[in-house]
Amino acid sequence: MAATIRNAFDPGFGVYVHWPFCLSKCPYCDFNSHVRRGEIDEERFVEAFRVEVAHRASLAPKREVRSIFFGGGTPSLMAPSTVESILKAIGDHWKIAKDAEITLEANPTSVEASRFKSFKAAGVNRVSLGIQALNDIELRALGRTHTVAEALAALEIANATFKHTSFDLIYARPQQTPAAWRKELELALARAPEHVSLYQLTIEPDTMFERMFNAGKLETPDPDTQRALWDVTQEVTARAGLPAYEVSNHARPGAECRHNLVYWRYGEYAGVGPGAHGRLITQRGRRAQSTERHPEMWLTCVETEGHGLIEDEALSTEQEGDEFLLMGLRLREGIDPNRFFAITGKKLSPSRISELVGDGLVEYTRENRIRVSSEGFPVLDAVVADLAA
Ligand SMILES: C[S@@+](CC[C@H](N)C(=O)[O-])C[C@H]1O[C@@H](n2cnc3c(N)ncnc32)[C@H](O)[C@@H]1O
Ligand code: SF4
Repeated sequence: MAATIRNAFDPGFGVYVHWPFCLSKCPYCDFNSHVRRGEIDEERFVEAFRVEVAHRASLAPKREVRSIFFGGGTPSLMAPSTVESILKAIGDHWKIAKDAEITLEANPTSVEASRFKSFKAAGVNRVSLGIQALNDIELRALGRTHTVAEALAALEIANATFKHTSFDLIYARPQQTPAAWRKELELALARAPEHVSLYQLTIEPDTMFERMFNAGKLETPDPDTQRALWDVTQEVTARAGLPAYEVSNHARPGAECRHNLVYWRYGEYAGVGPGAHGRLITQRGRRAQSTERHPEMWLTCVETEGHGLIEDEALSTEQEGDEFLLMGLRLREGIDPNRFFAITGKKLSPSRISELVGDGLVEYTRENRIRVSSEGFPVLDAVVADLAA
């Protein structure tokens, strides 16, 4: 069954590489990122990445890699030669498609922007910059170490260096009004050639922001304001020609992030590095994999065990169906109900679909796909839970 799914509905194969270090920890962030005082032994990491890539290739050989994503943490802190060595390791074990998308997440400081040319020479062809806000006071409140001027300068260099660029902004920040967000977003979009990721601030567990929130020292916008901020986001991006193709991602048609589409279209991907997740289709079916999160423990794990996996579980067809819905319904293109049937052997409940259609939360596309409507997106989690039940 697994091999059939891969062939009939193949959304491609990607490789995710996690670089777990940052210069400082942002107070809102719960990504697997760590701050180290001393130098990082990149050679030792490169060797471990080589071993880990070889391990995943032994589980899923003969794939063509259509996208590679260096995420973090802050991958722009890696030496360009480290990026090059990891790309070589990937190319030694799998064929990398000629037009593969190779993205690197970068923080927009001047030091990192000065390395963009070297990253390009190493093979990177797309950069995603974490700009977060276009207001110096708010950047400081977010714990960012760059200024607006630095961010815009880095974006200009990125746009001049790479064929494809994107940047992230965080909205629904404390005290942010829809009018202020509209202005900021319009300013940002004037500098966005093809792709932006716009995330609503989430108060994540075990972050400094959560402690401040619980102590009443940080207030997020109320639900009505959040909805108004969401509406502004949809309207302004659509007018600028970068409509939402996923809950938080906006692009000119054709400039969607190919790597993230592999996740959302429920494709196959290998995850290497500390705290990386993967979904590989092996002889034993589709597997959920994740690695040791702590960087130095991950190194030891790879050096002693030959891989950093701490989770490698078979997914039941029911779990696969749930994951497929959870990921696919984030997309504007929606899901193909036939693929749900191919994965689970069951049809989505027609009565539940008609109820959601009746409520205006779900709609059929011309191609008979099912997607969440504009009204349904702000309550996406509830819609997915209803369909998956
Ligand atoms: C791995 S991080 C970014 C990489 C890079 N280190 C940076 O900060 O620029 C990916 C993105 O997630 C978003 N993000 C992280 N934590 C968030 C939160 N609590 N709420 C909303 N967005 C968040 C930020 O926009 C960030 O750029
Ligand atoms: S937002 Fe980026 S720079 Fe800040 S801690 Fe998270 S991964 Fe590091």
